[in-house]
Amino acid sequence: MSNEIRVVITGVAGKMGKETAKAVLNGAPGLRLVGAVDPREAGVDLGEIIGVPGCEVKVSEHLGEVFASTKADVLVDFTNPQAVLHNAKTALENGTAPVIGTTGLDVVGIAELEKLAARSDKAVLIVPNFALGAVLMMDFARRAARYFKNVEIIEMHHDQKIDAPSGTAIKTAQMIQQQRESMRQGHPDEYEKLTGARGGEWEGIRIHSVRLPGWLLTRR
Ligand SMILES: NC(=O)c1ccc[n+]([C@@H]2O[C@H](COP(=O)([O-])OP(=O)(O)OC[C@H]3O[C@@H](n4cnc5c(N)ncnc54)[C@H](O)[C@@H]3O)[C@@H](O)[C@H]2O)c1
Repeated sequence: MSNEIRVVITGVAGKMGKETAKAVLNGAPGLRLVGAVDPREAGVDLGEIIGVPGCEVKVSEHLGEVFASTKADVLVDFTNPQAVLHNAKTALENGTAPVIGTTGLDVVGIAELEKLAARSDKAVLIVPNFALGAVLMMDFARRAARYFKNVEIIEMHHDQKIDAPSGTAIKTAQMIQQQRESMRQGHPDEYEKLTGARGGEWEGIRIHSVRLPGWLLTRR
């Protein structure tokens, strides 16, 4: 029996999906790409989109089409907050473990996936940021919160990002929250002269999202 992990990617024509496909096709050890989904490029040869000739994977319109013709061990999802839950549920129903890179999945959706995963023998991995530096930053922030209770988060992205705050900012706030009690910061009588001036709030932690052209848009 082969030990290779069979991978399907949803959102394969997007920025992150393309990078993931390239990584798998260019020899990530133990991985084999068996399916690719993106309604934007349905029917197109994946190799044409990512510049890897001869990869023999056609882009499908729906994830269901892929599962009808092949089995997969892992689904990597880089789509959007509207599509991700359906894709992850479809994967679990087909015995495939979802690895979710997409951000913006809400708590209700996460709870739904937890329930489904508990009934199957598959795990769900939700990773709002795969960058090692970001993972370490979140862990350092969690540890620092034990000593520094007052915190505000400022995150910066390019102006084509559609969700705010970023998944990384929310995850950072959640991890800080595990370490400190929910608390109100700032002046007790503080008020906003302009709505939103103090940013969004997660359990008392203010989050500010900057969106400007040029910020962190290095991979197109
Ligand atoms: N986890 C991380 O490290 C990380 C890093 C960067 C971005 N992200 C997140 O990943 C997601 C994708 O980012 P991006 O920059 O690649 O976006 P993108 O807009 O470039 O790509 C999204 C792709 O998903 C496709 N899509 C939409 N609905 C679909 C469906 N039902 N099935 C299959 N494909 C579908 C779109 O056609 C598009 O090509 C966002 O939520 C972003 O915040 C995560």
